Amino acid sequence: MNEKKRILIVDDESCVRELLVHFLNNKGYDCIQAENAQCALNILHQKNIPIIISDIRMPGLDGIGFLQEVKQKEPFTEVIMATALTETSTAVEAMRQGAYDYVVKPFDLKTVETSVRRAFERRQLLIENKEYHDRLEEKVQEKTSELVEKNTQLRLLFLNTIQSLVQTLEAKDKYTEGHSRRVAEMSSLMAKRLRFSDEDVEKLRLAGILHDIGKIGVREACLNKPGTLTEAESEEIKQHPLISERILTPIEELQEILADIRHHHERYDGNGYPHGLRGVDIPLGARILAVADSYDAMTSDRPYRPALTADKALDELEVNAGKQFDPQLIKVFIELYDGSPGAKNGPGVKEVFESIPFSQQSLCL
Ligand SMILES: [Fe+2]
Ligand SMILES: [Fe+2]
Repeated sequence: MNEKKRILIVDDESCVRELLVHFLNNKGYDCIQAENAQCALNILHQKNIPIIISDIRMPGLDGIGFLQEVKQKEPFTEVIMATALTETSTAVEAMRQGAYDYVVKPFDLKTVETSVRRAFERRQLLIENKEYHDRLEEKVQEKTSELVEKNTQLRLLFLNTIQSLVQTLEAKDKYTEGHSRRVAEMSSLMAKRLRFSDEDVEKLRLAGILHDIGKIGVREACLNKPGTLTEAESEEIKQHPLISERILTPIEELQEILADIRHHHERYDGNGYPHGLRGVDIPLGARILAVADSYDAMTSDRPYRPALTADKALDELEVNAGKQFDPQLIKVFIELYDGSPGAKNGPGVKEVFESIPFSQQSLCL
């Protein structure tokens, strides 16, 4: 039997039901009868009922109450209310509650047939519309997942590119191994203490990883020279922040950290390089990098001197607060050095610093 043509007739008067059943069955529909709302709800529970014709005035649950239950359970079941001429205001209320139409007793059967046909058509449209939206939603979800997946892959590719850049530098400059990562982690800790957003902490970490990448463009003879550098060699090495910037400029994701990288050798008193920026004209990220960078450089062996002890390096930072470094940032670095008491604030600079191994030396002018 074609379920789509099924109609449930609900009326407490059997003659009314019989009339409708006889007429509609002859028109090719499959009619089921219920003598009250409760019986009708039981049937609705068991069978797929596309269309209901229901009396309004019935003993027990009346037509309006029945309609509400039907709409709650089966929103796509269309309900046509059957009403006496004197009850048209109730019929209008029923339509407000979601009935599709109403037909007036005594029935004009032609009108009933038209109403039923249109109810089936409307139901079909609503179902098709819902299916279309469901498919659309599915498609959107599918596309969103694809985009998320692609973004993850791109991010991974990007991080791999960064990693291979760093490895290229480390292969060339044995002194750099571990330096970039220590600078990155110490700078991130400072950024967190300064309440940078997670996104900005991540950017500064990347800046730390990449800040010396420009040394790729400096001759190995300068980078690995055991003795004191000549003026010309020193000038060549001082080009590395600008070379870093040039190397990284084509990478769109890194645009916001270029300035931090370019200026990581500026000094707070204006005597640094490459542009001799002074004080807060130096980007904050660059001022942070400068502190972490110098601490790591001082505590690393140099060809011309052994590594300073941590205490001595911290003293040097303090002595140079306001000269080479932003004094506020030196305070932050020293506060963070031993970590805050209790695990909730995480490790201190010292712990992070010590967790990343050295190669032999770290050369950073
Ligand atoms: Fe550097
Ligand atoms: Fe460095």
